[in-house]
Amino acid sequence: MTNVLYVSSSPRSGSYSTSVADRVISEIRQAQPDVQVTKRDLARDPLPHIDADFLQATRSAEGPQTAAQRAIVARSDALVDELLAAGVILIAAPMYNFGIPSTLKAWVDHVCRAGRTFRYSEKGPEGLAKGKRAIVVNARGGIYSSGPAQALEHQSSYLRGVLGFIGITDVETIEIEGVGLGPDVAQKAVERGLVCARAVARAA
Ligand SMILES: Cc1cc2nc3c(=O)[nH]c(=O)nc-3n(C[C@H](O)[C@H](O)[C@H](O)COP(=O)(O)O)c2cc1C
Repeated sequence: MTNVLYVSSSPRSGSYSTSVADRVISEIRQAQPDVQVTKRDLARDPLPHIDADFLQATRSAEGPQTAAQRAIVARSDALVDELLAAGVILIAAPMYNFGIPSTLKAWVDHVCRAGRTFRYSEKGPEGLAKGKRAIVVNARGGIYSSGPAQALEHQSSYLRGVLGFIGITDVETIEIEGVGLGPDVAQKAVERGLVCARAVARAA
């Protein structure tokens, strides 16, 4: 049985990234009716930014020193447990200012934990969240897969990079781009995304 962690991050009603990711879920459900889906909607339930207490609690030799710091570790641990329990991680991300929304970055900051999802070895950093598959649905107004804006693409490349860092190297991306270039371009981009949703869901 597949266990999917579905992380969405667009606050927009009618979000392209969420609607295509929802389609991925419905296609997986069709193929595997017993699939378990854990939904984490970061736009509706945002996580706090990491702060001095988080660093003391998770990155210092002493560890958590206060009740507040213990609560911070508990929250981060729960998010890591949720990630480690999943076989498939589905992430839906709008592009904001060339990167991912800060809500999604806060989630990344909570789940990238030394000793839990990666470790430093003599050979350098090693990802510990191995044996998983990720599906990333990216929506953006402009075109970044080719052309002059390519160097400003810090959404898809960032997510692929950070997933790889924690050991998730089997990553499929669905890019819905050019949605700001007019309704026809947007509609075609979403239609292509929905076709890809079916293909990636069948392989999940
Ligand atoms: C705050 C904000 C920043 C944005 N920044 C960019 C950007 O840097 N590049 C781009 O191509 N589109 C940008 N867009 C457009 C969104 O990426 C586009 O509307 C996309 O569809 C959002 O995803 P969603 O439909 O899942 O909400 C931005 C939109 C907003 C609201």
